[in-house]
Amino acid sequence: MPADHPPYVIDQMISAKSIAARIESLAREIGTEFAGTDKLVVVGLLRGSFVFIADLVRELDLPVEVDFLEASSYGDGMDSSREVRILKDLRGQIEGRDVLVVEDIVDTGHTLAHVTKFLVSRNPARLRTIALLDKPARREVDFKADWIGFEIPDEFVVGYGIDYGQRNRNLPYIGKVRFTQ
Ligand code: IMP
Ligand code: MG
Repeated sequence: MPADHPPYVIDQMISAKSIAARIESLAREIGTEFAGTDKLVVVGLLRGSFVFIADLVRELDLPVEVDFLEASSYGDGMDSSREVRILKDLRGQIEGRDVLVVEDIVDTGHTLAHVTKFLVSRNPARLRTIALLDKPARREVDFKADWIGFEIPDEFVVGYGIDYGQRNRNLPYIGKVRFTQ
């Protein structure tokens, strides 16, 4: 346990099986939306979306390119920084292309609101967003992803790519952090 974090346990909230089933159905909806696309650019937001994007693209029956973008957000704590900066830009071009932005969680909404504005300024043909989790109770800016895996209550969660202080990303399920002291 890192010294700067009080002791905690992780209670499972969404099983690996439920996540897989939900992704199958989301992939079908995305396939319908982008049917006939020449090439879909799937943009993962680092680092939290890396597990989700890996599972999602393997369910997509479309020609895809995978690219990554990194935006600053939480640092190592539990609170949003609100001021979003782009730390790592895309490698490829998106002008005139179909783009799907993949995020782990929509919390305050600042990150995806900023990132979509940033990407839309490059004139993609179509830009859609998907987030595995949504915490609507925490929203500070008006933002709604086009697809959501699961709506969850205001709990701090980890696993399936999502971290607390850079730990627990490798859990195969989503769990909530519960402090024991
Ligand atoms: P937003 O800008 O407040 O919507 O923040 C979104 C980002 O905050 C996500 O991409 C996550 O990296 C992080 N985040 C939000 N809620 C959680 C959580 O419960 N656990 C871990 N990270 C979170
Ligand atoms: Mg993030």
